[in-house]
Amino acid sequence: MGRIHVLPEHVANKIAAGEVVERPASVVKELLENSLDAGSTRIRIQVEAGGKRLIQITDNGCGMTRDDALLAFERHATSKIQSAEDLLTVATLGFRGEALPSIASVSRLKLETRALGESSGTMVEINGGKIFRVEEAGLPEGTAITVRDLFFNTPARKKFLKAESTELSHIASLVTHYALAHPDKHFELHSATNAILVAPPVADSGQRVYQVFGKEVLDQLIPVAALQPLERIGLPSAKIWSRRKKNRLASCALTASFPNPKSKSSIAIPFTCLSTDA
Ligand SMILES: Nc1ncnc2c1ncn2[C@@H]1O[C@H](COP(=O)(O)OP(=O)(O)OP(=O)(O)O)[C@@H](O)[C@H]1O
Ligand SMILES: [Mg+2]
Repeated sequence: MGRIHVLPEHVANKIAAGEVVERPASVVKELLENSLDAGSTRIRIQVEAGGKRLIQITDNGCGMTRDDALLAFERHATSKIQSAEDLLTVATLGFRGEALPSIASVSRLKLETRALGESSGTMVEINGGKIFRVEEAGLPEGTAITVRDLFFNTPARKKFLKAESTELSHIASLVTHYALAHPDKHFELHSATNAILVAPPVADSGQRVYQVFGKEVLDQLIPVAALQPLERIGLPSAKIWSRRKKNRLASCALTASFPNPKSKSSIAIPFTCLSTDA
């Protein structure tokens, strides 16, 4: 008898979750990117216990029909690409169709969604990857995803999570980065006790820096523009593809080039625009 067998779907999802979901901030990242890909202009995030107990993201994006709401939890189900050729011009933040099934397999997840123009919405509840309730519901247009008890069924992974304050600071830093990259959108991040970030839409990146970091930081920043080989220069305006990236080498180079006499570290907010045109 052969030794090879195909893993059941729920096992494959749990394994995939190991790559996609490292900590609460990775869940926030995936859900935030989905909301941005859905064309949302208003995104509200609520967390409790550093995201370990609750992460809820509410958006006003395109929403999903009932069929799509169920398909979204199948692996490799995506609305963002159709063929291998599309990979060359993909302009969305996600396209693998892995995030939602992965998150759902390691949490208790509730999806509430109503597609634009539909008369009613859909509520789906999933526990550890198993759908246990699907109902029609009166809902606002857009999508709300509630993720409770992350890693409740993978205790070994839960043990590796850090203190609530540490996990919350990862989430706050992530949401701040996305808010900086999308000044034209409304972002809110709330913990059980605090409004950590409330950033209504503003006209440009400079005003968003002012909103998030305050006047003192904005006044200290020196606008720097790179020309080649990047095709755009100056502070970016509308972008279609904004994501967060950590780069230790770049931050060391910036700190060395622009030492801050008032503190050990310098602050730099680099924006990079990539064109998907060949
Ligand atoms: N907030 C949302 N609003 C509207 N549609 C959504 C939302 N979140 C997810 N979807 C739909 O569900 C699908 C599956 O989402 P999922 O995050 O699992 O995959 P993806 O975004 O396509 O790729 P990736 O795994 O790289 O993130 C998406 O392609 C999208 O059509
Ligand atoms: Mg996604």
